[in-house]
Amino acid sequence: MSRDRERQQSQLAFVASGNDIEVGDRGRLPLPADVLKNLRGDENFVVARLEGGLTAEVWRLKAAGREWTLKRARARCLVQNVDGQTSFLNEIQRRADIAALKALPGGRERFAGCVDTVWGCFREGLLLSPWIDGGAVADWDERRLVQLFALLEELILAGLFEWDLCPGNLLDDGAIRMFDFGYMYRFDPLTEFNSNGREAPLFHAAERFETRNYFAWLLELEFSAGIAAALAAFALEKRVAGACYERLVSRLAARGAAPEVLSWLRGFLDVWGKAQGETLADLYLAEGWRSHRLDLDDDLRGKTCTKRTLARCDWLIAAAREHFAALTGLDALFWHDEGLGREALIARLEADRARAERFQIK
Ligand SMILES: Nc1ncnc2c1ncn2[C@@H]1O[C@H](COP(=O)(O)OP(=O)(O)OP(=O)(O)O)[C@@H](O)[C@H]1O
Ligand SMILES: [Mg+2]
Repeated sequence: MSRDRERQQSQLAFVASGNDIEVGDRGRLPLPADVLKNLRGDENFVVARLEGGLTAEVWRLKAAGREWTLKRARARCLVQNVDGQTSFLNEIQRRADIAALKALPGGRERFAGCVDTVWGCFREGLLLSPWIDGGAVADWDERRLVQLFALLEELILAGLFEWDLCPGNLLDDGAIRMFDFGYMYRFDPLTEFNSNGREAPLFHAAERFETRNYFAWLLELEFSAGIAAALAAFALEKRVAGACYERLVSRLAARGAAPEVLSWLRGFLDVWGKAQGETLADLYLAEGWRSHRLDLDDDLRGKTCTKRTLARCDWLIAAAREHFAALTGLDALFWHDEGLGREALIARLEADRARAERFQIK
């Protein structure tokens, strides 16, 4: 059984067992748990109800002189697969892991980018955190990239792999903050590539960020500022990711990581280090293909497509039409696209686009 499947089974078994899991301290709640549970929305301490939570209803509250975020689990997560259905449980489990990490010496500083948990409880479907007074990242400059990769580095070393670094899951209040741990899973960084063991070497931290987030931003940059600006932003991100992977290699090596893990990481450094000028444009094409293709697959599988899914589809169709030879030359086609001819590839992407139109969530 795959590591992912094992985790799913044990989470489903936990749900069926009737056992509960609690994080933090109920006594530190600024409002009684019952009041939070029965929130209607017209109470004077409700500042707003937020749009966008697929796993939970998210509320912004004001009480005891400051602001809070309440996540209240939905009866059914809007993401229609096992990982979606267990994402609230997963979030409570990871909140417990992160609370333990923050309690270690130096932990508060190392994991300052992960929001605190005041109190959370799986069976009560409640999770309360401080409100992060920030905004979504509109512009990925060097400071933001450096902070994100520094946080990812600490999480990886602590054995936590985040799959969903989408724009809605990161906030910037002067520091990059993570607050949604519904798709963060445990793994062993000394022997595994990600939470699916060594089965899927395609997935790693920089890839997750590029796939769920950065390439969508680069796509907009291509439209608004042109391909040269997108390539410069891509080079910056690769430089920051490269510095992070260099540190990971030495820190993991010092802890006795398996040679397979170290050479896998060095493989990325090797490819990224060579990318300049024309080869940078090639790397952009190949990584852009991988990012848009994977994200499209995610959205189709979860039936959670948006306008951005369609824009990504259009990028893929254009790349297949205009750069098919380069894509195959770069070995960029993967999984079920591998070995397809140009026309068959375009036809498949057009079929995916039609499905993405059908699965629009808003
Ligand atoms: N602590 C917080 N401070 C400020 N805003 C927050 C906080 N937690 C969540 N939000 C806001 O609420 C939105 C939804 O929160 P979150 O991503 O945790 O919910 P979710 O249901 O797990 O989302 P999804 O499953 O769609 O990723 C976020 O995009 C963010 O804008
Ligand atoms: Mg989220």
